[in-house]
Amino acid sequence: MSSSIWRKKPLSAFEADMKKSDLKRVLGKWSLTSIGIGAIIGGGIFVLTGKVAYFNAGPALALSFVIAGIACIFAALCYAEFASMLPVEGSAYAYAYGTVGEFFAWLIGWGLILEYGMGAMTVAVSWSGYFNKLIGMFGLSIPEQFTKNPFAGGYFNLPAFLIVWVVTAILVKGIKEAASTNNLIVVLKVGAILFVILVGMFFINPDNWTPFIPEPKELTGEDGRVHQAYGLKGVFAGAASIFFAYIGFDAVSTQAGEAINPKKDMPFAILASLIICTILYIAVSLVLTGMMKYDSFTGEDLKAPVAAAFEKQNLGWAKYIITAAATAGLISVMLVMMLGQTRIFLGMAKDGLLPNFFKDIHKTFKTPFKSTILVGFVVSLVAAFVPLDILGDMTSFGTLFAFAMVCGAVWLLRVREPNVERSFKVPALPLVATLGVLTNAFLIINLDKLAQMLAGGWMLVGILIYFVYGKKSSNLEKSQTA
Ligand code: ALA
Repeated sequence: MSSSIWRKKPLSAFEADMKKSDLKRVLGKWSLTSIGIGAIIGGGIFVLTGKVAYFNAGPALALSFVIAGIACIFAALCYAEFASMLPVEGSAYAYAYGTVGEFFAWLIGWGLILEYGMGAMTVAVSWSGYFNKLIGMFGLSIPEQFTKNPFAGGYFNLPAFLIVWVVTAILVKGIKEAASTNNLIVVLKVGAILFVILVGMFFINPDNWTPFIPEPKELTGEDGRVHQAYGLKGVFAGAASIFFAYIGFDAVSTQAGEAINPKKDMPFAILASLIICTILYIAVSLVLTGMMKYDSFTGEDLKAPVAAAFEKQNLGWAKYIITAAATAGLISVMLVMMLGQTRIFLGMAKDGLLPNFFKDIHKTFKTPFKSTILVGFVVSLVAAFVPLDILGDMTSFGTLFAFAMVCGAVWLLRVREPNVERSFKVPALPLVATLGVLTNAFLIINLDKLAQMLAGGWMLVGILIYFVYGKKSSNLEKSQTA
C-alpha cells in the first residue's frame, strides 16, 4: 500500500510537522484576515470588471459575482474545516495528502503553482499597467519599450520586473514585515473600494441596468477571440472569469506555520475575508454598471474601468484616488501570492516531494529565503518577458481544481476520521461538499477554452514529474524502503 500512488500521510505526522516548524508565529486573527483581503482585492475588481461587463454579462455582472461568490463560499467552508484540523502550511496540497493520497496531493501542489506563481505573474503585469497610468497622471513616463514584453514590441516590462523584486525582498526579510506592509495596503484599498461604493452610488442611473441580462450575441475582442456575450451563458462565462477576483482567501491556509493560534484563527480569517470581499464586490459591480452603460466599457476604459466610470461623471479627480489605491493594492496581492507559493513548496519539501532547497529557513529572518528568491526570480522573468493575457484564466483553473478537491476531501475525512478534533465544522457537510465540487467544476468548464487546454497541458507535465521525481523522493517511499 505505502509504495502506491494512493499512500496517505498519517494525521499524526501533520501534528509532528507542526511542532517542528521553524517559522515565527506572529499572525493573529485580524492579520490573517488582512492577508486574505490583501490577496483577494486586486486585478479582478480593478481591471476585469469592465471586460466581464462588456464581453460577458452586461449589467448582470453583479449576478456573475454572486455565482462565483457562492462557489467560493462552499470552498471556503471546507477550507475552514481543514484549517481547523490540519494547520500546516501546504494548504490544499496537505489536505489532499492526508485524505486522497500522494498522487492527487502532488497534482494539487502542482496546480497551485498556477494559482500562486502564475497569479503573481499576472498581477505583476497588471501592476505595471496601473503604475504607468499613475506616473502618467503626474506627467512622467517610462520609455515604451521598457513597459512591454518582446512579443508586444518592447524589450521587457521593467516595472513588472522590479516590483517582483521589491516584494521578494520584503518576503525574505520576514513575515512581520510582510504582514505590516500588507495591513497598510489593505486599509488603503478597502478605503478606495468604500469610496467607490459610497460616492459612486449617487451617480447611478437605473436606466443603465436595463436590460439586466441583455440578449445573447457574439462579440469579437481586439485579440480576435470571439465571446458568446450576454444571456445566461454570458452570465456563467462571466462568473468563471470574475472568479479570479475572489482568489486569495485560501492563501490564509498557507500561513499555518506563522499563525499564533492556527486552529481557531485560520477558519475565522478564511470566512471573514471572503464574506467581507463578497459584499464589497457585489456593491461595486452594481455601482459600476449603474454609473456607466455596460457597452461603453471599450478601448482604454477596459483597462481601468473603475476610474473610467468616475471620469465619465466629471469626477476626474477620483481617478487619482482609485489609480493610487489600485497600484498599491496590487502589491499586496503579489505579496500574498508569492508568500503562499513558498509556503506550499515548504510543505512539499518537508514531505520529500521537492528538494531540500525549498525548506531551508534563514537563521535570522526565519523565512524560506532560498525558495522565496527562486520564486521571485522566475516570477520576475516571466512577468517581464512573456505575454500573459491568458494567464488569468489559467490561474483560475488551478485554483478551482484545488477548491473542488478540498470540498470532496473534507467530506472523505469526516467519514474516515470522524473523531479527530475540529474547531470548525462545515454545517450540512454532504450538501455543501457536493455543491462545492459541482459549482467549482462548473466554473472550470466555463473558463476560456485555450486556458483550459494550456492548464491541462501543465497538469500533464506535473504528472510526468511526479513519476520521474516526486514518487521516488517522497519521505513515505523512503520510510517504506528503509
Ligand atoms: N483576487 C486577486 C485579484 O483580483 C487574485 O487580483
